[in-house]
Amino acid sequence: MVAHIRSLILGFTAGVLVAAILIQQLLSLPLSDPIVQYTKDPLELNTPPLPRPALDDMASSLRSSLQIAQRALLRGRYKSAHSAHSPLQSIAPSSTRKPLTSLSSSNTFSTSVPRMASKKSLIDAAKERRSIYELNKNSPIPDSKIVDIVKTAADYVPSAFNSQSTRLVTLLGKEHEVFWDQVLDVLKPIVPEEKWADSKGRLEGFRAAYGTVLFFTDPEPVDNLRKNIPSYAHHFGDWAEQSNAMHQYFLWVALEAEGLGANLQHYNPLVDQKTQEHYKIPLEWKLRAQLVFGGRAGELPAPKDKLPVEKKVFVHGANL
Ligand SMILES: Cc1cc2nc3c(=O)[nH]c(=O)nc-3n(C[C@H](O)[C@H](O)[C@H](O)COP(=O)(O)O)c2cc1C
Repeated sequence: MVAHIRSLILGFTAGVLVAAILIQQLLSLPLSDPIVQYTKDPLELNTPPLPRPALDDMASSLRSSLQIAQRALLRGRYKSAHSAHSPLQSIAPSSTRKPLTSLSSSNTFSTSVPRMASKKSLIDAAKERRSIYELNKNSPIPDSKIVDIVKTAADYVPSAFNSQSTRLVTLLGKEHEVFWDQVLDVLKPIVPEEKWADSKGRLEGFRAAYGTVLFFTDPEPVDNLRKNIPSYAHHFGDWAEQSNAMHQYFLWVALEAEGLGANLQHYNPLVDQKTQEHYKIPLEWKLRAQLVFGGRAGELPAPKDKLPVEKKVFVHGANL
């Protein structure tokens, strides 16, 4: 009897010990390893994972459960902050408007593979993206991260027949200022004198930002498609524009997601030649847009007018 009880106690103790070792191993897993690896270079997302045992799976499912819980919590917070307003009517009701700087410090969304405490959904980033004109030179992320995001757009945004006709030129530091000086030089002789003060102020505002992405379309792949698939020839121009615009939107939202602000400009074609010569960009590329970005200064923009959603969205066959 005594021997029986002793073996029961021994078995129980051994079980507790094994469980304790497993829990300790699980807790001591460097949860941030894969995150650091991806944060360094999102383009390495396809790097084969480190060969690690099933504990990795356990850790990652633990991590995703926590992320799901955190997102649910954040959603709850978002809803309660906006409970009086449908998000379709108002992005940022004035009663809840915050200075942009405070938004960026609490702006936890990141295009990096998310850390648990730094995740905002794509939907939330899309809702929070606005045209931000008051920008400064304080970037919450390093240049390497900005360049990675631009490369991600180039590699992952789709294009018709995978033609990849969009070209992205990223201007940072002095080169960003050179571009806006060029726009100023080009505009000065053609803007009426009485309007010059306004135009100049606007351009100086863009120059005061952190950087600019120039969006070009390379006509060569588009022309090749026209030649190779003549039955669709009339579509390829539109599709190249659409793909270029997808790059614009991707970057606009991705930079917003990282806590930057941005606005979209169109000083093409006035500035094209000067810019393309200066940056040694092939002259046949067509400049389509300029995305100015930087640290957010000033207040959040006022909520924008929205057509009732019923006028824009039509649903058939859904189980609502
Ligand atoms: C295709 C397109 C072209 C735009 N062109 C300009 C532009 O040349 N200058 C500008 O200041 N804003 C431009 N905008 C910004 C829009 O005016 C702005 O997105 C719109 O009023 C909605 O405001 P929001 O960006 O704050 O949501 C453009 C936006 C889009 C989508």
